[in-house]
Amino acid sequence: MKLKIIKDTNPRMRLKSQEVTLPLSKDDKELLDNMLEYLRLSQDEEYASKHNIRPGVGLAAIQVNVLKRMFVVLVDTEEGVIAYQLVNPKIVESSLKLCAIGAGEGCLSVDKDRKGLAHRHYKIKMKAYDALSDQEVVIDAKGYLAIVLQHEYDHLDGLFYYDRFDKKNPMEQKNNEVII
Ligand code: NI
Repeated sequence: MKLKIIKDTNPRMRLKSQEVTLPLSKDDKELLDNMLEYLRLSQDEEYASKHNIRPGVGLAAIQVNVLKRMFVVLVDTEEGVIAYQLVNPKIVESSLKLCAIGAGEGCLSVDKDRKGLAHRHYKIKMKAYDALSDQEVVIDAKGYLAIVLQHEYDHLDGLFYYDRFDKKNPMEQKNNEVII
């Protein structure tokens, strides 16, 4: 498995990714499998330190230089491990209530963590084709999982978490915002 992560200094990361043709091609499915495997390995402390890679919970295709609207997530929650390979995702509902990670978000394509609150919707409903379970899914997410999904979705539109900071006061908490 050889995946090379491109960084935010690469102008391609600012491009808008393109819709994916369904049914998924064998190459696209293989890529998603490799991307999910990358996340699994990145969360294995021994492997990660040996290969000098950082732990990740999400990875978008553009981060491996493929301009397609798809991403994978691998998130440990109280309800267990949540894994998806989402293709052509759409955010169909989002709450007015906001949330942000107090310690800041991280990104495999951003080498140096930037400090600030990335303002996100606290709850979202996302529709997509999930190649992992081979079905259309509707995901009701809140809190941390909702943040991860929005972070990866942003990559498909060429956005980084620090684009969501308040420019004047990056640590300013918004009204109606939960800090997690
Ligand atoms: Ni990212």
